[in-house]
Order: sequence, then structure tokens, then C-alpha cells
Amino acid sequence: MLRLAVLISGRGSNLQSLIAYTAQNAVPAQIVTVLADKPAAGLALAEAAGIETKIIDRSLYPDRQAFEDHLILALEDAKVDMICLAGFMRILSPDFCRRYLGKIINIHPSLLPNYKGLNTHQRALVDGAKHHGCSVHIVTPALDDGPIIAQHKVEIKAADDQNSLSARVLTEEHKIYPAVIGALAAHLITIQTDQGQLRLDHASGPIPGYIPGMEHHMQWPMPAP
Ligand code: GRF
Repeated sequence: MLRLAVLISGRGSNLQSLIAYTAQNAVPAQIVTVLADKPAAGLALAEAAGIETKIIDRSLYPDRQAFEDHLILALEDAKVDMICLAGFMRILSPDFCRRYLGKIINIHPSLLPNYKGLNTHQRALVDGAKHHGCSVHIVTPALDDGPIIAQHKVEIKAADDQNSLSARVLTEEHKIYPAVIGALAAHLITIQTDQGQLRLDHASGPIPGYIPGMEHHMQWPMPAP
């Protein structure tokens, strides 16, 4: 059983998609704790699903180190195998990322390596990009930079504004993140670490709780966006 921690800072719609996926599908993955860096609306979603939650309030700690020490305690307490960042708005220190190398994944609302950081939808629109999308990637010390596990492309339409585009991308986020968890839990994707190096292995086969149209987005190595 893959024991997951989900880290959030806000509304938690990706968290909800992971809760629904792990509850409804016979996947050997379980969300054992949901942690937030401040009071976050999404915590109520976990509580409603009977999942343990904890606020590790960044504003109560003098520095990032002290905050992360408490985060580590909570993760160790819950005996987690994998940490899923889902709208977690804190940059984790290089030490933290190295400690959990290969065990932290993130969902990012762009076709990485394009548009790392914030305001991705607005930046894609201003650039007149033809496509946008979302990526699930392994977290490394450099921001939004680790190996990409899966992506989903969304076409940008002439009438799109930030709201319509972000909503369409979010719909895909809610499919791609659970699919990656399913693939990891079923060992269709394995993340290996060797002396600080990451390796992503990818087998082909049906993903439990498979979402039609997803499989061909689960390629590795990914074609350039
Ligand atoms: C999502 O767009 C996610 O890709 C980004 O932050 C947003 C979080 O939304 N990292 P939600 O809290 O999951 O609804």
C-alpha cells in the first residue's frame, strides 16, 4: 500500500480528485495525512473523507528550517511513502527536497519546462501560445524543474481568458494527478534514486481506474511540448 501525504495551501480541488480516486478505485494507494502550511479550505475535504489533517502553520515558526522540521515530524509520524504537493505554496528547501528525493511529486499548471512559477495561464495568454496544459513532475531543489512524469495538453482558444483557460487546465489536472498515483501504486512507473540521481522507469499496461484518453499522455521520455 502506497501511503500518501498530500500537502496543500488552498482550496484543495486536486486533493479532492486524489481522495475520490483512491476511494473509488481498487488502487493500492491511501492518503494517510493531509498537511497544510496555514488554515486552508481544502482541509475540510479531507476531514469529510475521514483523513487525518494537520496545519503546520508557517507563520508560527521563526524560519523555514523550523517549519520543515515540524513538517518532517508529521510525515514520519504518518509513515508516508510519497508526498504529493497539490497547490502547496511554499518552496521547499534543497535539504528537504534531497531528504525525500524521488518521493515528492507536484502538479503544475503548465506544460513544463514552459512557465515555471506563478501566473502560468496569464503568461501563456500574453505570449499568444497555442497550447497550454499541466504537468506532474518529480520535485527537485530547483523550482518546477524535476523530471516530468506526465503531461496533458490543452488547446488555447481565441476567446480564452484566464478564467476559462485555468478551468479547462484544472479539469485535466484532476485526471492526470490521480492517473499518475495509480501508475505509481501499480508500479507501472517507478522512481529510482541512485546517489542523488533520479531515474524514472515506465512500463506499459492498464492503469487501475484508468481514465479514457490518459494513457497516451503517460509517455516517458516526454516529447517536447
Ligand atoms: C492547481 O492549479 C495546481 O496545479 C497548482 O495550484 C493549483 C491548486 O489548486 N499547483 P487546488 O488547490 O488543487 O484547487
